[in-house]
Amino acid sequence: MKVLVIGGGAREHALCRSLSLDPDVSALHCAPGNAGIAEVAELRPVDALDGEAVAALATELGADLVVVGPEAPLVAGVGDAVRAAGIPVFGPSAEAAQLEGSKAFAKDVMAAAGVPTARSYVCTTPEEVDAALDAFGAPYVVKDDGLAAGKGVVVTEDRDAARAHALGCDRVVIEEYLDGPEVSLFAITDGVTVVPLQPAQDFKRALDGDQGPNTGGMGAYSPLPWADPKLVDEVMELVLQPTVDELRRRGTPFSGLLYAGLAITGRGTRVIEFNARFGDPETQVVLARLRTPLASVLLNAAKGTLADEPPLVWRDDAAVTVVIASHNYPDTPRTGDPIEGLAEVAAEDAPDAYVLHAGTRREGDAVVSAGGRVLSVTATGSDLAQAREKAYTAVARIRLDGSQHRTDIAAKAAGLG
Ligand code: AMP
Ligand code: GLY
Repeated sequence: MKVLVIGGGAREHALCRSLSLDPDVSALHCAPGNAGIAEVAELRPVDALDGEAVAALATELGADLVVVGPEAPLVAGVGDAVRAAGIPVFGPSAEAAQLEGSKAFAKDVMAAAGVPTARSYVCTTPEEVDAALDAFGAPYVVKDDGLAAGKGVVVTEDRDAARAHALGCDRVVIEEYLDGPEVSLFAITDGVTVVPLQPAQDFKRALDGDQGPNTGGMGAYSPLPWADPKLVDEVMELVLQPTVDELRRRGTPFSGLLYAGLAITGRGTRVIEFNARFGDPETQVVLARLRTPLASVLLNAAKGTLADEPPLVWRDDAAVTVVIASHNYPDTPRTGDPIEGLAEVAAEDAPDAYVLHAGTRREGDAVVSAGGRVLSVTATGSDLAQAREKAYTAVARIRLDGSQHRTDIAAKAAGLG
């Protein structure tokens, strides 16, 4: 099978790593990729948001499957353009990707499907904003309706700040605050059949102890020893299957990866948000634990034959990933700094720990930082304590001037504090 992966972050590196280990995959290309992905896939330059260009590349490569990693190309209709060229795509249509692209659309689907989520109002005027803020009280949760790469959501005790954010958006969703630990649960679906993956937890704040600004995600781990063993079944029944059924009923079937961001509240599990693609950095730990070769699962989802796929097989291992971010992330990250220590990790820590690249590029013989999140150092172990020890041992070998990482990823779940 010839596979083309679209994107160039640590999530795509994790996808390409798994696909490169799959004996069914005879050729692997990634566009645009990054310096780490170049070690497992052949890179192609392409504008990932240009559907015609991606379709032309997939045709030229004779791809049997295109996997679209990030949300922006999905929402821009890249999946539709490739499907129109007759090539199976793992990733939803632009219409179905509105589940991530529009918070208001997601709320509407959840209401119709009876999916438990925060109560909310969609507001377009200052009067509606004031009424909604007062209806729920603090802490205020204000979400820009459109795609905002994780920056559109403000959660604050400060009413003026909440109001200012709301008035800066054309259309805004104001909702009830959900209290409780967050879980990311991914499911692969062909629009009818839904196959859940293993749950993971992401660390969204920049600093230890969940302090500092929201980021794209600073680390993740799986499994969740503290979670109810029935959680996956419950979310399948209450959230994932009803959502997939509702989108099909509307004539916009969702195929690809359905990501449920959940809050485990005192009153039950609630959806915080949906995403229409694999999460980053959770994918790094979920795929580290998946024993089933990935390509045929993704192809069956793309072709509508997911029911033919045998049950997924998981390792007993735990996995932890720690993100190394550049100086000043998430504000205006500094780029172009050389990264050292990658060869040491490969020599000393592989195969249990390895480095997945996010924002990196090659400059002559050097690998340099090229984005806010630079590396996602991933490790497996017999339990979370061992996996995190291996991950942090590898992190300590990496040298990147001014870089930052959290030191408490998975610490609490591993029973360390
Ligand atoms: P989202 O982009 O919707 O995932 O929101 C980003 C982050 O904001 C989430 O991961 C939560 O930490 C927080 N958040 C979003 N909605 C709520 C809510 N209703 N209650 C509490 N926290 C929330
Ligand atoms: N880990 C959060 C996200 O992928 O949106």
